[in-house]
Amino acid sequence: MDNSVDINSIYGDKIYEMEKVMMDAVSKLDDFRKEETEVLKEDPIEHLAYRIKSDKSMREKCRRRGISENRENALNVLTDAIGLRIVCPFRSDVYLMVKKIKESSDFEIVEEKDYIKHSKENGYRSYHMITRFEGYFIEIQLRTISMDTWAALEHQMKYKKTVNGNQELISSELKRCADSLASTDISMQTLRDLIHSMDDIEE
Ligand code: GTP
Ligand code: MG
Repeated sequence: MDNSVDINSIYGDKIYEMEKVMMDAVSKLDDFRKEETEVLKEDPIEHLAYRIKSDKSMREKCRRRGISENRENALNVLTDAIGLRIVCPFRSDVYLMVKKIKESSDFEIVEEKDYIKHSKENGYRSYHMITRFEGYFIEIQLRTISMDTWAALEHQMKYKKTVNGNQELISSELKRCADSLASTDISMQTLRDLIHSMDDIEE
């Protein structure tokens, strides 16, 4: 992730404030993480990633959307200039973090998409939230480690368009992997719940 500061960017001098807002949001999420680790005795987050969309990607996105490349569009028409990704060990951790964010008065929820319960046609799974935080839009993506692994690979493949002819096979195999990972996630969740229920009996 490129977090370098460039005042010639589409964000202009707002870039400094954006960096601060992003780190404030990260620290809020870290607080939730600590609170829940106390309760669960297990960390609900495997890792947290964050980035400000690069000048180049933001300009590309404006062009794709047919809007002019300016700060107003980058910050207030598009909503993912600041992005956070929460990667969790288990599905229940994802929904727990969703709940924490919704309960918090610091984040206003603008939009939610549950691509875990309703996966995309290609097999993509994640919970997406557009939030408003300290005057900025922040896109938060939440997913399990398995979902994250798949998304990383699929993202890489999308940009390798040279594998001509096999596109269909690759897509259907990727979809199969996504479904199989999802089913493994559910089995792992069941195992974890079982282990926890045995803990309760022993206590
Ligand atoms: P953009 O895709 O950003 O133009 O926005 P959208 O309105 O289509 O929103 P959506 O919630 O579908 O996607 C937002 C972000 O989620 C994307 O920018 C990606 O980071 C991620 N994402 C969505 N779909 C996929 C997918 O099929 N594969 C991967 N790897 N990432 C995805
Ligand atoms: Mg999209």
